[in-house]
Amino acid sequence: MQVSLIPVATAAKPDVLHETTAIVFDVLRATSTIVTALASGYRRVYPVANAGTALALAHEHGFVPAGERRGDKIAGFPHGNSPLEFISGPNVGISNDARKCNVLVLTTTNGIKAIRWAESAYKVFTGSLLNARAVAQAVLREGLDVSLVCAGTGGRFSLEDTLGAGFVFMEIVQQLNGAASSQLAAGMAVDDLPIAAYELARFYYHDPLSGLMVGRHGQRLLRRRLEDDLRWCAQLNRYDIAPVLTGEFITTGNDFNKL
Ligand code: MLT
Repeated sequence: MQVSLIPVATAAKPDVLHETTAIVFDVLRATSTIVTALASGYRRVYPVANAGTALALAHEHGFVPAGERRGDKIAGFPHGNSPLEFISGPNVGISNDARKCNVLVLTTTNGIKAIRWAESAYKVFTGSLLNARAVAQAVLREGLDVSLVCAGTGGRFSLEDTLGAGFVFMEIVQQLNGAASSQLAAGMAVDDLPIAAYELARFYYHDPLSGLMVGRHGQRLLRRRLEDDLRWCAQLNRYDIAPVLTGEFITTGNDFNKL
């Protein structure tokens, strides 16, 4: 099995992803938010790159809209991209009778684009620290080569995304070899990028929160007093779900109904 790591999603080209199973990481915070929402009662997350389209879709179908740009909630959206906004289950959708709705339309600066860029893969899973073991098990069940796709920030490397990829790669090595060691990982068909991610995860294994705080985007969120978001995203294996892009939506894999 070949495991590749793409450090910034802008490099996720179709020929690289073709016939592989992709896991997309935007640990702060889009993929952590998607995993949290689907683990908390939402049935579908609709990833939409354009903010206007996201709001129009929510209005048309009574969905719950959530939007972030450069770390802040988009003006006119009821929700931003904090996973903490979705831990209590479905919120009120855009409708006249304030009904709750279990479909979240989410638009963010980098993570949603990365998910859409990864669509040329055989399957696209959503990865985070919150579901590292579950998503590693899911991609091993597919039996294909694996692409670890890190969103990055503004087309630049984001440490926390590669840290998330490292935790999932550590789980893959553990599942395949019955033991977690980068020497064992080196025995696989990998180059040094997954090994570097593995070692990053090993370094922060007992303190993942520090790993989320050290990068530029983590620092930006801390300046916005969003430490609770980082604490939430730093929880290793809190959830046992592996969200997968199924047509237009991201679901836990049990909901194939179209819109
Ligand atoms: C992104 O997509 O760039 C991130 O999720 C932004 C954030 O939520 O801070």
